[in-house]
Amino acid sequence: MRFLLNLFENNRAWAQRISSEDPDFFSKLSQQQQPEYLWIGCSDARVPANEIVGLLPGELFVHRNVANVVVHTDLNCLSVVQFAIDVLKVKHIIVCGHYGCGGINAVINRSELGLIDNWLRYVEDVYLKYRAPLDAIADPIQRADKLCELNVVEQVENLCRTTVVQNAWKNGQPLAVHGWVYRVDDGILRDLNICLNNANEMPTLHAAARRIVTAT
Ligand code: CO
Repeated sequence: MRFLLNLFENNRAWAQRISSEDPDFFSKLSQQQQPEYLWIGCSDARVPANEIVGLLPGELFVHRNVANVVVHTDLNCLSVVQFAIDVLKVKHIIVCGHYGCGGINAVINRSELGLIDNWLRYVEDVYLKYRAPLDAIADPIQRADKLCELNVVEQVENLCRTTVVQNAWKNGQPLAVHGWVYRVDDGILRDLNICLNNANEMPTLHAAARRIVTAT
């Protein structure tokens, strides 16, 4: 093997460290996965889902894409959500955005980055929806932070409107959907106080958006 030997060395050291703490860890894990949480986050290398929330392999089911977007025609994301809810029976889905997101910044700055611009149109839709309050913010970093938060609200709404989530709630399956934001420059998660346990709580998302828009 000629390439990336350091990664293989890291891997062996990691597996040894875990096995030394719990010799049965990997054999137990190979039997089944029973994560209680699904994480939908950004692909950004600085936002590693498991590490941020201190969870081990097997404890967090994960879907990541640029700017943590949930689109009702994205077969990839929908399949992850459906499998997580119907088969794994996760009890919580966390949509986690992050400040300093390159995808959000590209929309704010109207950058042209190539094919990815088409994906980011979903974030641009969020920007256009809240254009008046966002454009009223003079500081570009504050404006981007606000769009990060509003993007989480919108993606939580998109997730909650999927037939998969709606049916789970209709069938009385315990399932909470949460909206969080992570700050890359201090490593701290921030709860946007978005937590939906059933379809009747959908209007709380509009309150959350209002809260974000009016907060200074
Ligand atoms: Co990002």
